[in-house]
Amino acid sequence: MLFTDALAQKNSRRAPVWLMRQAGRYMHEYQALRKRYDFLTICHTPELICEVTHQPINAFGLDAAIVFSDILLILQALGFDLRFYDDVGPVIGNPLAANSLLESRPVVDELHYVLEGIKLLKKSLNVPLIGFAGAPFTVASYVTKTKEWNPDKLDLLLDLLADCTIDYLNAQIEAGCDAVQLFDSWAMHLDAEQFHRFSKKPLEKIVKGLKGAPAILFCRGPQVSAYCDLGAISVDWTVNMPDLRAKFSGPLQGNLDPSILLTDRKTVEKETKKILDMMRGDPAFIFNLGHGVHKNTPRDHVQALVDCVKSYS
Ligand code: CP3
Repeated sequence: MLFTDALAQKNSRRAPVWLMRQAGRYMHEYQALRKRYDFLTICHTPELICEVTHQPINAFGLDAAIVFSDILLILQALGFDLRFYDDVGPVIGNPLAANSLLESRPVVDELHYVLEGIKLLKKSLNVPLIGFAGAPFTVASYVTKTKEWNPDKLDLLLDLLADCTIDYLNAQIEAGCDAVQLFDSWAMHLDAEQFHRFSKKPLEKIVKGLKGAPAILFCRGPQVSAYCDLGAISVDWTVNMPDLRAKFSGPLQGNLDPSILLTDRKTVEKETKKILDMMRGDPAFIFNLGHGVHKNTPRDHVQALVDCVKSYS
């Protein structure tokens, strides 16, 4: 498989392509399902997880699937009141006060529906399956104002989240995921010292605790290259991939600006080819966006991107 070969740094064929947020609101199939079920109901129902995960694979012929879920579900398992409101996004009803202790809980029992969804997917998919979780700093950012915390207390919170995330990702791998991705979407707001302490250190603990599948590490902005020694990295458009490649030989994923998908077919094809030219013949390159697909993306622009990567030679 192209995707798993690239993660093993031995892909000798074309670059594999998948897209962060490849399933979701820009697809009419998803919109139709959302008329019948709310977002959390879909996330909690193995058959619906399976159905939505398949939608972009069937529609566009992508080279990897990502489990349909959300990085914030682990917060429900930790006792937080999580809700999603249309046009607002996620809201936690019982946020955590600065410097307070969070009680650890066995999150995997609570998240069994994700694992059942993964098992259904492994029976029905013909491409590799990616599991995922939020990085501790980003997950914490949704329950508390991390910048108001005493740094030593914040270390404790992030460490607890790291332990829960290890259990959760290992359960996803055991259920059948071929790789896992960790999203540290808000780490870009940290300075270099904080980035090392609150983003990289917990991620390092998680990566060391994983059994049986490679990890891809994602954050926005140029600090992502600090993860180089931990595993595969997913970079955005602020990073020049050939420059990074000169210092890093591991699996590299990226990096089209998802806003390009809002322009026109010709621009999508031109910008996609630019990246393919830069990474031509690279055995460890995975084509992706630098962040998730925007909800108002025209579907034929996604198709143009995928076709362009698949026909490139
Ligand atoms: O990539 C995929 O196709 C898998 C699904 C996936 C979702 N969320 C589905 C989703 C993944 C990998 C995520 C990760 C996620 N969730 C992140 C990290 C990546 C990133 O975008 O930086 C973050 C920060 C979240 C938290 C989250 N979930 C927010 C802020 C929101 C609201 C904003 C928005 O985009 O609507 C969500 C909701 C959410 N997660 C939707 C989807 C498809 C929209 C749900 C809907 O209204 O139908």
